[in-house]
Amino acid sequence: MKKKINQVKILLDALPYIKRYSDEIFVIKYGGSAQTTPELKEKFARDIVLMYLVGIKPVVVHGGGRAIGDMLDRLQIGSHFIDGLRVTDEKVMEVVEMVLSGSINKEITDLLNEHGAPALGVSGKDASMLKAKPIDMQKYGYVGDITKVDPKVINNLIAEKFIPVIAPIATGQISGHPGFNVNADIAAGHIASSLKARKIIFMTDTPGVLNHEKEIIHTLNEEQINLLKTQGTIAGGMIPKVNACLHAVNGGVMKAHIIDGRIEHALLLEVFTSEGVGTVIKL
Ligand SMILES: Nc1ncnc2c1ncn2[C@@H]1O[C@H](COP(=O)(O)OP(=O)(O)OP(=O)(O)O)[C@@H](O)[C@H]1O
Ligand SMILES: [Mg+2]
Repeated sequence: MKKKINQVKILLDALPYIKRYSDEIFVIKYGGSAQTTPELKEKFARDIVLMYLVGIKPVVVHGGGRAIGDMLDRLQIGSHFIDGLRVTDEKVMEVVEMVLSGSINKEITDLLNEHGAPALGVSGKDASMLKAKPIDMQKYGYVGDITKVDPKVINNLIAEKFIPVIAPIATGQISGHPGFNVNADIAAGHIASSLKARKIIFMTDTPGVLNHEKEIIHTLNEEQINLLKTQGTIAGGMIPKVNACLHAVNGGVMKAHIIDGRIEHALLLEVFTSEGVGTVIKL
C-alpha cells in the first residue's frame, strides 16, 4: 500500500510540470554517445513517448559520430579529424548520409513508433529545411555551417501531432551536390531557436558540464562559459554543445540543459522533477 501511495505522489509531483509544459516544443539532441545500449535506447524512446502523451511537443535531433566511424572502418574508408571536425570528402559524405539519414534516423523513428508515438524521420535536406555553407572547403570538405533553418515543415509535422526526428544533414542547394555534414549540436541549437522552443536538452555521456576538478557545474551563463572555454576546461565535443546552448538561449529558448544520457530516464528526471539533473544554461 505504501508503495502505491508513493507512486501516486510521484504522479502528483509531476503535475505542475505537466501543466507548465503542455503544448510547448522541446528540442532533444540525442547524442551518439548516449545511444550505446539497446536498453538505453528503449528507455529514451519511452521517455519521449511519455512526454508526448502528456502534451509536450518533442522534436528529436540526433548525432551519430561513433556509428559513422564504425561504418567508415568497415568500408575501409580512411578519415581524420581537424579541430574536432571530421574532414568530409565526397566518399565520407556518402557514408555520413547513409549512417545518419539511413540507419540511425530510421532506428530512432522506428523505436518511437513501436512505443506508441507517431514519429517521422527527416533529414535537413527534406524540403531544404537546413541550408549551410562550407566552413572551409579546403580544410574540412563538406562540413557545413548552418546559414538558414526553414521551420515550416517541422511546424507542420508538429501540428499534425508527429514527432519529427531530424538527421543533421544540410542541403547543398545545387543539383548533384552531396550536401553538408553539420554538427548535430549546432543543428539542434538552430532548430530550437527557429521553432521558438521552450527548452533544448542535450543528452550526452557526461553528468553535465564539468569544472577543472571534474565536478558538475549546475548552472552557467554566457560569461562563465566563455571563461571555461578560454581556460580549456570546456573542450572537444563540449564546445559545439555549449555554443549551441548559447545560440538557443540567445534566440529565445528559455533554458538549455546538458544531461547524462547514460542515466536511465534522465529526460524524465530533468523535465518532471524540481531537482533536475545536469547543467542548465540560461541568459
Ligand atoms: N568541461 C567538460 N565537461 C564535460 N565534458 C567535456 C568537457 N570538456 C570536454 N568534454 C567532452 O565532451 C564530450 C561530449 O561530447 P561528444 O561530442 O563526445 O558527445 P555527443 O555530442 O553526445 O555525441 P555525438 O557527437 O556522437 O552526437 C564528453 O564525453 C567529454 O569528453
Ligand atoms: Mg558531439
